[in-house]
Amino acid sequence: MSATAPNLNSIDDVQDLLISANYVADRSLATVLYLSLKMGRPLFLEGEAGVGKTEIAKVLANQLNRPLIRLQCYEGLDVSSAVYEWNYARQMIEIRMAEAAHDVDRKALGANIFSEDFLIKRPIMQALENTEVGAPVLLIDELDRTDEPFEAYLLEVLSDFQVTIPEMGTIKAAEPPIVIITSNRTREIHDALKRRCLYHWVDYPSAEREKDIISRKLPNADKRLSDQIVAFVQKLREDPSLFKLPGVAESLDWTNALTELNVVSLDPDVINDTLGVLLKYQDDISKIQGHVAAELISQINAEIGDRSD
Ligand SMILES: Nc1ncnc2c1ncn2[C@@H]1O[C@H](COP(=O)(O)OP(=O)(O)OP(=O)(O)O)[C@@H](O)[C@H]1O
Ligand SMILES: [Mg+2]
Repeated sequence: MSATAPNLNSIDDVQDLLISANYVADRSLATVLYLSLKMGRPLFLEGEAGVGKTEIAKVLANQLNRPLIRLQCYEGLDVSSAVYEWNYARQMIEIRMAEAAHDVDRKALGANIFSEDFLIKRPIMQALENTEVGAPVLLIDELDRTDEPFEAYLLEVLSDFQVTIPEMGTIKAAEPPIVIITSNRTREIHDALKRRCLYHWVDYPSAEREKDIISRKLPNADKRLSDQIVAFVQKLREDPSLFKLPGVAESLDWTNALTELNVVSLDPDVINDTLGVLLKYQDDISKIQGHVAAELISQINAEIGDRSD
């Protein structure tokens, strides 16, 4: 199977594939994803928290029926956790057993303990191995959390889809994995790495798209309530004084929470009591609670009322 599944012959096909997994992508995201699959290039997704970056890789693996291999990045991530390491314990046992059997041919033993049997394959190495269903999807999640030396290491992997192990040689993927890289842009990723990828900024969705996401993900939620929630969240995103804006994840959580509480309409009291589902900083919560929330909801009710007249 090639990296492009047979049915992905157009941008519409990609959009349909995502929609069938309840992922609502705008045209520009579907376009860059289509191109990345067609050209066999990694896709670099940057954007705020909770806008659906990680989900893309999960949906893609699921819908293309490929294994998902996830490399969660963090500060201090190194080759032994991300790529491979030698299984020292097993190597030691092998040496001891050879010694006990008085069978120490140093050259043969050296070749043996540095063979694939003694290698622990970490996500990047696993992603270079093809399965019977084709190359896997490799998700390199939150790359901005790693440090620059690791990023530099990734260059070789992403340019040639190969890893060099000094004791063994170079291991190359027969078919390159489908690579999705995400970043929350807590720092800039180096140009050299970006150049190897197609780039897309995942923005907050429009109100229409956010309503669509909620109705697909939470079909039991009250329609008017979700309209109010989306309008409220969209207004919060226009507030430059907030420290951390709510993402789609928070809209979904809030809709879920309010549905759980049998709320059918937003009012200032409900908002004040549940704002912690939406905003995660006390300064932000205290800014919105009370009269700002009341003002926003009265504007929203006027707008939604206007539309339904
Ligand atoms: N366009 C979308 N269609 C459907 N669901 C979406 C969409 N965008 C976000 N979601 C939902 O929002 C939630 C958060 O998405 P995800 O974890 O992918 O965000 P993220 O961008 O990776 O966030 P973070 O930067 O915090 O890791 C998921 O439950 C996902 O299903
Ligand atoms: Mg994520």
